[in-house]
Amino acid sequence: MGEQKIMETTEAQIAVHWQEEGYFNPSSKFIGQANLTDPEIFERFSLDNFPDCFTEYAEMLTWYKYWDEVLDTSDAPCWKWFKGGEINASYNCIDRHLKENKNKTAIHFVPELEEERIEHITYQELYVRVNEFAALLRDFAGLKRGDRVTIHMPMSTELPITMLACARLGVIHSVVFGGFSASACADRIVDSNSRVLITMDAYYRSGKLLNHKINADEAVAIAAKAGQVVDKVLVWQRYPGKYSSETPMVDGRDCFVNDVVKNYYGTRIEPEKMLSEEPLFLMYTSGTTGKPKGAQHSTGGYLSYVTAMSKYIQDIHPTDVYWCMADIGWITGHSFIVYGPLALCASTVIYEGVPTYPDAGRSWRIAQELDVNIFHTAPTAIRALRKIGPDEPAKYKYHFKHMTTVGEPIEPEVWKWYQSEVGKGEAVIVDTWWQTETGGFLCSTVPAINPMKPGSAGPGVPGIHPIILDDNGDEITQPGIAGNICIRNPWPGIMQTVWGDRQRFVDTYYARYCKNPESKDWRDWPYVAGDAATRSGDGYYRILGRIDDVINVSGHRLGTKEIESAALMVKEVAEAAVVPVAHEIKGKEPDLYIALKPGVEPTDEIAKKISDAVCDQIGKIAKPRKVWLVPDMPKTRSGKIMRRVLGAISNKGDVGNVMTLANPEVVETIKKMVDR
Ligand code: WTA
Repeated sequence: MGEQKIMETTEAQIAVHWQEEGYFNPSSKFIGQANLTDPEIFERFSLDNFPDCFTEYAEMLTWYKYWDEVLDTSDAPCWKWFKGGEINASYNCIDRHLKENKNKTAIHFVPELEEERIEHITYQELYVRVNEFAALLRDFAGLKRGDRVTIHMPMSTELPITMLACARLGVIHSVVFGGFSASACADRIVDSNSRVLITMDAYYRSGKLLNHKINADEAVAIAAKAGQVVDKVLVWQRYPGKYSSETPMVDGRDCFVNDVVKNYYGTRIEPEKMLSEEPLFLMYTSGTTGKPKGAQHSTGGYLSYVTAMSKYIQDIHPTDVYWCMADIGWITGHSFIVYGPLALCASTVIYEGVPTYPDAGRSWRIAQELDVNIFHTAPTAIRALRKIGPDEPAKYKYHFKHMTTVGEPIEPEVWKWYQSEVGKGEAVIVDTWWQTETGGFLCSTVPAINPMKPGSAGPGVPGIHPIILDDNGDEITQPGIAGNICIRNPWPGIMQTVWGDRQRFVDTYYARYCKNPESKDWRDWPYVAGDAATRSGDGYYRILGRIDDVINVSGHRLGTKEIESAALMVKEVAEAAVVPVAHEIKGKEPDLYIALKPGVEPTDEIAKKISDAVCDQIGKIAKPRKVWLVPDMPKTRSGKIMRRVLGAISNKGDVGNVMTLANPEVVETIKKMVDR
């Protein structure tokens, strides 16, 4: 059995079970302009036409050399898509648009401070800046095809410039979410063997200019202790030409990009002709064990898939202004702020700060100012905007044709507010279910073809064939019965492997239901997503949440094991257990139960120390709702911590029969503590 065994308390178990809702239909105006209106798409992408159907996606891109084989399964389940093809992602996102669209805006950068001007970067300017920075990476930093580089940057124009410069050279980028701590950044530097770190001095968050450069110094120091030397730290400046951090620059190691890049003004770099299956980037994500794993994404397959999803599901046309509120440091930002929209020559919006800063109308002012017509965000942001400004959208004159929700299940009530207030009853909505590992969407409605149903993600998108399996591997066909959602077939956006750990890749995503590990037939390798789901009679899937040790906090994916190991680094701590608890805005929050070592008095100081340790090791996003210092953990007779019981207590649910525990009396004590 694979890594993905079922834990005693999972998100799926505390999922809210909503009623089946009625359908909403797209307007004829939307359908009239949509990229994909032909219902035969589902026939074209049926399993009978697999894998050749996916050439339709690859042909949206410009290739140097056409592929020899659509899908090579000889190293199953590490799939090779469009094998033998040659392509460059930077070329496809920039150069190929220049002939007709060089003066069109590629990126609108919106600073958090409203008194600062919005920047509009044309495709031509993006081309110039990417080339010059690529020259710096090659000639100053000594990076070449196949090297890895870690990027720890906030939302800024310079972040996609950095990514696209790497892609131009065939350097594999590993972007770390800007809100992650230095220690989390260091782990990723070490795992990917990066000798160059790219950062920015500072950025705005909730009106404060945060010192970000300090994280680079700490990350480099921690990585060095683990044996990975970083010899260059490239520092972008929030205000070009001015240093906005108090942290000193280290001689010989650190340099300001804005100074060094002057030596490369006017330089042009020929894009590397990458093999389709060469990696484009790594994106680390949380899983069952403490160590985050690097999801390795390919160049040709990934780019084909995100381009097609952007065109067909996001309905992006080159004339659209598209705003995805995610952070580029997560997969959503990679696929649906940077690579997909730019490959389609759209204008993509990058917003530096918090959607509710300085007030609940900010997001709608941005939409109005830039004439945004496609909007993409997560339920957690929708809940927050609804809570603090339910009537704000109506005050602004923007019109969305299309909206996305992604990252967690959305409550039908919240969906309906999104539809009627944010979308003004005009916009279609797609609820897109997918993962870091999958590159692009798995389930969603095709907006001009399938009606919407609040609370349901929808059917598999064209070419994705989901199936719900029970613990024995049998298909669950009855509507409404929960099981493990899997995908029967590979698709071009699927990750290639876990960076440096093929076995972990196989164990985590495929071992559970694969009956023949030697098989080279894709039919033997259902992809295990790690979520529980139900299917209703119409073939729409409802995602219930994670079945493994992952908690989805405000759409951010956190490993319970990572939080527990951070807590265990505090010397007074004997045992730690994290359970998900439902939260009105964030969806879920981690609740942290701690048993202290014998003789240690439980105090508020210790609780704070533990909470701080979690923030230091991972980042503030992982801060526990509460640190409960309990006299003992509820345990089975064999000594296993019963997270199910703790989860029930945290969520005010039924703890069930606890009489078989080794220490049933402690359950009442903990319950009193939490209920107080
Ligand atoms: C959850 C984010 C319900 C799910 C793109 C998945 C969702 C995890 C949805 C992946 C959705 C994502 N409805 N749940 N529309 N989208 N999820 O890797 O549990 O950060 O496994 O990728 O988020 O999170 P990740």
